Amino acid sequence: MKPVILAGGTGSRLWPKSRAALPKQFLSLTSANTMLQDTVTRLGDKPTEAPVFICNEAHRFLVAEQLRQKSIIHGGILLEPVGRNTAPAIALAAIHAIKAGEDPTLLVLAADHLIQDNEAFHSAINQAEKLAETGKLVTFGIVPTIPHTGFGYIKSGSSLELGFEVESFVEKPELSIAKEYISSGNYYWNSGMFMFKASRYLEELEKYSPEILEVCKQAIESETPDLDFIRVDKDIFSNCKDDSIDYAVMEKTTSAAMVPLDAGWSDVGSWTSLWETAKKDENGNATIGDTILENTTNSYVNSEQRLVAVIGLDDVIVVETKDAVMVAHKNDAQSIKNVVSKLKSDK
Ligand code: GDD
Ligand code: MG
Repeated sequence: MKPVILAGGTGSRLWPKSRAALPKQFLSLTSANTMLQDTVTRLGDKPTEAPVFICNEAHRFLVAEQLRQKSIIHGGILLEPVGRNTAPAIALAAIHAIKAGEDPTLLVLAADHLIQDNEAFHSAINQAEKLAETGKLVTFGIVPTIPHTGFGYIKSGSSLELGFEVESFVEKPELSIAKEYISSGNYYWNSGMFMFKASRYLEELEKYSPEILEVCKQAIESETPDLDFIRVDKDIFSNCKDDSIDYAVMEKTTSAAMVPLDAGWSDVGSWTSLWETAKKDENGNATIGDTILENTTNSYVNSEQRLVAVIGLDDVIVVETKDAVMVAHKNDAQSIKNVVSKLKSDK
């Protein structure tokens, strides 16, 4: 089994900590390690091949340095000249492995998730590996708690020895549909981690998004090794369609299977989800750094440099950094994306 670590996202909902130059996977948000480091170290002593990393070329030294800090041996760091989302990123990793004369089972992991129960995670991986070896494209399903519209929804079908068939996969449904799914009780969230043979992913990509496969093949054809890094061709890869594995393959394939995962998973997608998983005091507040809270409940306050005092407020998120302070209602933390878009368009 070869882990493939996807580390090319922007993490814009965790602004102002997460920045274009330092997206959330490279930050220490849930432990002393960075999220990228935790992604690898939580595999523990599971016997795997050296993980392959795939990230934007702008972050190559960050990745290399964070791996060095933890003495993590890697099996290559693939560099994307531009981000084209996860379907092409995984295709590059799969083609790269096959080019080396292998057809490994790939364990595709997002570099920015929190998993609290490693033992449960490892046993789900063991199940998934066996299913993947039968040709399935395996997802890990999380029992949903709210009608979150930022996740994929998996309807579980008939039971397999080691998991379930996937009856349907719907990426990021509208709120009304997500509500229906939650009340029907047959749906799981897609965790965003996958397991399949490299060749099986490429076969399904060829069926449903052949243009992505074609561009990725050409871009890898002219890959150039550069110390630890493997660069793909910029002119070719820039022409690749931007699409996620979820839309490009998982919604369409008839070979998907699902292994349920109950391991304290969170995608740390927003400040609200960080508050949810954080240790809180008796007033429901989670604080980091120099803070004073008075008559304040159920809030998340993170100060990097200056003392932050919050008085008489409930359900707020306050994040202070060297050059920006963000104050939001906890129920509106998803809208931070709009602030980031505004910042980009003002430049
Ligand atoms: N190399 C690379 N290149 N990595 C990328 C790129 C890219 O262009 N875009 C995103 N990633 C990485 C991110 O860093 C993250 O680790 C992972 O791929 C998933 O990308 P997200 O952008 O965070 O996806 P999402 O959260 O909107 O949706 C996915 O995850 C959900 C669970 O967290 C989907 O798989 C959903 O179905 C799923 O529910
Ligand atoms: Mg995500």
